[in-house]
Amino acid sequence: MSTLTFWKPGTAGPGSTHDRETEEEGNVVQSAPSHGFLSIQAQRERLPIWQHRQKLLHCIEKYGVTIVVGQTGSGKTTQLPQYLLESGWASEGNIIACTQPRRVAATSVAIRVATEVGTLLGDEVGYTIRFEDVSDKERTRICYMTDGMLFRETLIDPLLSRYNVIMIDEAHERSLYTDLLLGILKKIRRKRPSLRLIVSSATLDAKAFLEYFTSGTHPDDATIVSLEGRMFPVEVAYLQESAPDYVRKAVEVAWSINLQHGAGDILIFLTGREEIERCLEELTELLPTLPRGATQIIPLALHAGLSTEEQLRVFNVAERGTRKVIAATNIAEASVTIDGVKFVVDSGFVKIRTYNPTTFLASLSTVPVSKASAIQRTGRAGRTSPGICYRLYPESAFASLPTSTPPEITRTDMTTPILQLKSLGIDDLMKFEWVSAPPAESILRALEGLFAAGMIGDNGLLTPIGERVAECPIEVNIARMLFTSKDFNCGEEILTIASMISIQDAFVIPDGAPGAIAELERRKFTTEEGDHLTLLNAYNAFTKYGRSSSWCKAHALNFRAMSRAVSIRSQLKKYMIRFNLPLQSCEGDAKRLRQCLVSGYWRNGARWVADGTYRSVKGNKTLYVHPTSVLFTRKPRTGWVVFHEVEETKRTQIRILSEIEPDWLLDYGHKYQHRHAAG
Ligand code: CDP
Ligand code: MG
Repeated sequence: MSTLTFWKPGTAGPGSTHDRETEEEGNVVQSAPSHGFLSIQAQRERLPIWQHRQKLLHCIEKYGVTIVVGQTGSGKTTQLPQYLLESGWASEGNIIACTQPRRVAATSVAIRVATEVGTLLGDEVGYTIRFEDVSDKERTRICYMTDGMLFRETLIDPLLSRYNVIMIDEAHERSLYTDLLLGILKKIRRKRPSLRLIVSSATLDAKAFLEYFTSGTHPDDATIVSLEGRMFPVEVAYLQESAPDYVRKAVEVAWSINLQHGAGDILIFLTGREEIERCLEELTELLPTLPRGATQIIPLALHAGLSTEEQLRVFNVAERGTRKVIAATNIAEASVTIDGVKFVVDSGFVKIRTYNPTTFLASLSTVPVSKASAIQRTGRAGRTSPGICYRLYPESAFASLPTSTPPEITRTDMTTPILQLKSLGIDDLMKFEWVSAPPAESILRALEGLFAAGMIGDNGLLTPIGERVAECPIEVNIARMLFTSKDFNCGEEILTIASMISIQDAFVIPDGAPGAIAELERRKFTTEEGDHLTLLNAYNAFTKYGRSSSWCKAHALNFRAMSRAVSIRSQLKKYMIRFNLPLQSCEGDAKRLRQCLVSGYWRNGARWVADGTYRSVKGNKTLYVHPTSVLFTRKPRTGWVVFHEVEETKRTQIRILSEIEPDWLLDYGHKYQHRHAAG
């Protein structure tokens, strides 16, 4: 293992003003205090938020909106809803809601809080995320949910009358649905002033929220409560130059931390599942070379694709003589706190959704983190003792990072959100009180797209089909396919495809056989027509022969993901039945099926060019095929495809492709709507 050249400019980051605890590097120090021996109540009282309990309850009573700012780990998410429960805010059948931008956070926090409250999960404490409701209509008092779920609930119950208190957590992340909810909740509070709102944030930019909630309302309607955090100093080390392969570099750094430093867990920030898996694989390969007597390494992953049990493993306290090395996405940046982390290795990158309204291409791109994120990640090393953060880039690169990440609403496809806002009766989008307004271009393109797809009419109002599509818990383009399947007699198959693309990673790479076997296994399902039909085949084989984890393993399918697809399918099926959409089978007529796909993906057309890349129909952008596609090494026979989504890494890659005839883009795209509107 090469020696690492890190330059340490000295202690920095949050908490640097605190006294540094004496500790000799290199010696085995006591492992970070595990609170396992304390009673739950004692653990709760140790959290920084405990000191502020009375004040918080007082403010929530007095003010309509309480903005709570406190460092990650101070107890906002787990404790505040409990304080409210204990002081009677959930009496008379009322519910306390707490929203999270991430599914993983909603589930893991609900599990923790159910334990603290001493109830079964789904009873007094529950959670709801898309396609998964672990709550009880009568008994649940505290409900954690994704922000998207609560927003969707406003479509059914516009005043959110079930809730007494709503806590919008991790508001600093400014996720799309958090922003939309804040806008809607400001409106709701005008009609229902008794509703209490808590906006919680890990960063200090709470002023913006205060201004938002006091403008145009009573100035004394909102207040800020700051929780001073208990935080140890964290030393920051930079690389002298950026690493060409930060995953490999992260492995090297983690390895040398393990050899050079005493106890304390290591948290590595990477951008996604694939990187995390590669990082842990490379680390695992090194394990046999670990010198005798060295600290043992327990490699762990933390990302949204894991099962709940897998996620919870990161919270197990490492035994003496071992340390956890957790490779995580930015879930671990603020939403989830793992005590005992003493070393942070920060790749400096994050995957975010971006949208180009001119090309209609929404993509997941890997971009440098913001300064705010880098600092937040650094702080994760100082939760329970002083720590060190290794940034895998030079200090000069830090200086050039953007201050903060722009709110998601400014860089996302607004098609689905605008359809939902319209369904809520918010027709004048200019008058809506945005926390940050989306770019006019993005609103305009979304309206055009909705109009062309027949979701809004000439008068700018929702059409009957638009009303119904807004109710479906899936993206507009996929919902449109469900509705047009009626005309192509392929409801059964489209329903399956819609469910399969709602899950991620149906195909897995089995342990010890990277690539090859998975590829061979998948060939059994592979169809010439592309990935959508391949997914359909995999699903059908699963329900016919499989439904067991051993069968899935033998066929390189992800059992948990496949089971989720089955559950999603049965939920979407209920919508189809409610909307009178026939569940007919196309009986193997792949052509009709692909035509139906075009009715949803008509904005995602691409043309094959001789060098093996594609050009987008709109904007003529160069697109590469994602290596997981069955069309990765093959030219589509017709020369044309539609694709599900774009992923931006070093190049722009399209994922989940199907062959089409170019004429279909016109026939079943926007023209389709006019023909049907006439008929
Ligand atoms: O929301 P905030 O970041 O302020 O803190 P929190 O998520 O409520 O976490 C408070 C404490 O609970 C931290 O010390 C966490 O490590 C702990 N916790 C845990 O042990 N297991 C969980 N599943 C969630 C939180
Ligand atoms: Mg939290």
